[in-house]
Amino acid sequence: MINHSSKIIITGGLGYIGSHTVVELQSKGFEIVIVDDLSNSSIEVLDGLKNIIGKNIAFENIDLKKPDLVIDLFKRHSDLTGVVHFAASKAVGESVTNPLDYYENNIYSLVNVLKALKKLNKSINFIFSSSCTVYGQAKILPITEKESIKKAESPYGNTKQICEEIITDTVSSSKNLKAISLRYFNPIGAHESSEIGELPLGIPQNLVPFITQTGAGIRSELIVFGDDYPTIDGTCIRDYIHVVDLAKAHTAALISMINSTHSKNYEYYNIGTGKGTSVLEAITSFEKVSKTKLKYKIGSRRVGDIISAFADTSKANKQLNWTAEFSLDQAMASAWKWQKKISK
Ligand code: UD1
Repeated sequence: MINHSSKIIITGGLGYIGSHTVVELQSKGFEIVIVDDLSNSSIEVLDGLKNIIGKNIAFENIDLKKPDLVIDLFKRHSDLTGVVHFAASKAVGESVTNPLDYYENNIYSLVNVLKALKKLNKSINFIFSSSCTVYGQAKILPITEKESIKKAESPYGNTKQICEEIITDTVSSSKNLKAISLRYFNPIGAHESSEIGELPLGIPQNLVPFITQTGAGIRSELIVFGDDYPTIDGTCIRDYIHVVDLAKAHTAALISMINSTHSKNYEYYNIGTGKGTSVLEAITSFEKVSKTKLKYKIGSRRVGDIISAFADTSKANKQLNWTAEFSLDQAMASAWKWQKKISK
């Protein structure tokens, strides 16, 4: 059974997915401590969280690359039940330019956290924020967890693969650590309150923030990266999942570990909707919910883009008792509402 005062540390808890997960876990009665170094997040997210939750959330500004600080952090919170580890750099292009920064930040932080947890020598439930990028272009769609892991297209993608391997090895050498990696498909949208949402730095690389910024007049037009792919309309297919559904998958994963419903100490799950959407379908959804016409034109393919990726989510549906509930239109509407709020 869940002890509703269980303490969970959420690293990267002021980030996009992290902040939505704080809300969902808190609503289930977990006590949350956010750890974030503000390297790619804003302290104002704490105010947004306070407005949703109605009280302050504990926050520690800590750089997880510093082992002494990490050991001290976990000593002070040695009554914890679990850790949800989001803290990582995530810009694919930047990772190609600065690979060592990505390896240092994403891998070193994980190693420091796991080392500190092992030192505590108590039962811990660990959730890792992974990505469908580990599958590359899958041979069979929808993608199940049986799909092979492909050579990563970028240092960012490689850090996700390496981190999963580090967790596998650490769990098998530990009596006390249980872990789940959640392989996210494409998170979009924002909390219904519009108190928290995605805050891309500079020009967005991902489709939906680019669409909403174009709708808001911040960008002059969207370039659709290629319309000559072998798909229904020639544009790439992705599985866009509402970030609140994604956040709820973390709650479900944590509860399943606390309730010991797993036969293995390390598991991994695809977290998506199970539905593939083309770039043109995403644009149509935006135009429908925003009641505006989007300025876009077809451009050339983006290097490294895969053609099509959408999840088979049956493993998560069954074993985590979790299913994505929001539609693409609902997710897109929430993204648009958030964009209108932040561009005021
Ligand atoms: C991208 C990353 C992936 C990462 C994921 C995280 C690349 C090559 N891949 O994946 O490693 O895990 O983000 O969210 O960067 N699109 C346009 N015009 C745009 C932007 C995107 O047409 O201005 C298209 C893309 O070609 C793609 C789709 O929209 O078909 C989604 O793109 P994006 O949001 O960047 O996600 P991924 O490509 O899945």
